[in-house]
Formats: sequence, C-alpha cells, structure tokens
Amino acid sequence: MIVAANFKTNKTRAQTRDYMDEVNEYIRAENVEAHVIVFPPATAYDNYGQGAIQGAQNAYAVENGAFTGEIGLDQLKEFGIKTILIGHSERRHILGESQEEIAFKFAYFQSLGYEIVYCIGEQLETRKLGEAALMQYIETQLVGIDMEYEKLIIAYEPVWAIGTGLVPSNEDIFSIHKALRAKTSRPLLYGGSVKVNNMREIVDLDNVDGVLVGGASLYAQSFCEMIKIAEEA
Ligand code: 13P
Repeated sequence: MIVAANFKTNKTRAQTRDYMDEVNEYIRAENVEAHVIVFPPATAYDNYGQGAIQGAQNAYAVENGAFTGEIGLDQLKEFGIKTILIGHSERRHILGESQEEIAFKFAYFQSLGYEIVYCIGEQLETRKLGEAALMQYIETQLVGIDMEYEKLIIAYEPVWAIGTGLVPSNEDIFSIHKALRAKTSRPLLYGGSVKVNNMREIVDLDNVDGVLVGGASLYAQSFCEMIKIAEEA
C-alpha cells in the first residue's frame, strides 16, 4: 500500500520539520511497511532521516542553468530526492503545463531512474459525458508516457474532487481503476478529498493500491491515521 502526502504550497521549513519528525517517529515505532511519500514545498527540502520518502512536487527537466524560478536536478540531489510528482492537475490547469512538456519531464526523470508519481484526472464537464468520454480524455494525458516504467506510480485524481469534499462513488472509482489496470501493471493511487473517514472504503476497492492526499495530509496526526489504515488494509 502507498500513502502519499502532497503539501502543495503549504508549510514552512520549520513546520515541515515538526511534521516529518512526528510522521517518521510513527513509522519507526509502528514498523510501518507501507510506502509513505511526503511532497513538501521545495523551500522545505531537507534531510529528514529514515521514514517517509521525501519527494519533489515539481522540478525543471535540467541539471542546472538559466531557468529563473525553477529548480533542477542539482537542487534535488542535494537532498537525496529520487521521487517526483509529474502531471498534477494544478500544474496542468493553473500553471499551464502542456502534455508535451509533461511527457518531456517524464522522460527526463525516467532516464535518471526517478520514482515518478504521475497524475491524471478529468474535469467535471468531462465526467458528465460518461465513462467512455472520460477514458478518452485520460488517454490524452497518457500520450508520451511509458506506462510500464518500473518506478511508475499512477495517481487518478478527478479535478472536481480535489479540495472540494466531493468524491466519486466507490463504483466509479472501481470502474475507472479497472480501466486503468488494463493500461498498466504499476500501482494505482486514488486522490481527491481523501480523508481519514473515507480512506478505508477506497483502499478496499480492487486495483486501488493507495492514496495521494492533499488537505487532510497537512496534519501529521491524521496522516499517521491514514498510514495506519493503509497498514490494516
Ligand atoms: P485534496 O486531498 O486536498 O483533495 O487534494 C488532492 C490532491 O490534489 C493531491 O495531489
């Protein structure tokens, strides 16, 4: 089971330090076997010791150079970061990353052997058109992506479920993950308004191998509860 926390543009370095100390202490004390990943903001990258894997929310596909405002491989290497989130809906829809740019970034980090958490998901108007249209849309987000990359984790995150408290029905998650399973043998995460009280039923569904959590992951205690649920599932 995989449990991942995406902080987005939340928490300072000091807050991340307190959080990681608490989560890593829990992981050690409980001998957690689940694969736990935390994506802090880049200003909080640090050496947090054993426990959760530290991942990058984003990076530019370059070692270093003249790319104002971006960070590259050198900055990730400094903190031993070997996991990256690519294709998140906020980068696609708010920051305007194209599928071409995303696929380029994917290929770059794949060539370096990075673990890649690759996000896909439809907007509400597509969801309303039914599952065939939805899967057709998802297909456009898989262009240029090696779906059998051995360090790939796919995260299905419907855009309309992110930060809204809305979650697809279990039947819908089941059905979409089943369709995704036909496209990859790699782990499939669900993301979008996952909370302590709805996680269990989601991870109990076939072809759901874990969760990617935003808002509810910001509290170390509730994230630890989610890790516990993953361990029991
Ligand atoms: P929420 O859990 O806040 O809905 O965010 C999900 C998400 O975007 C994780 O990447």
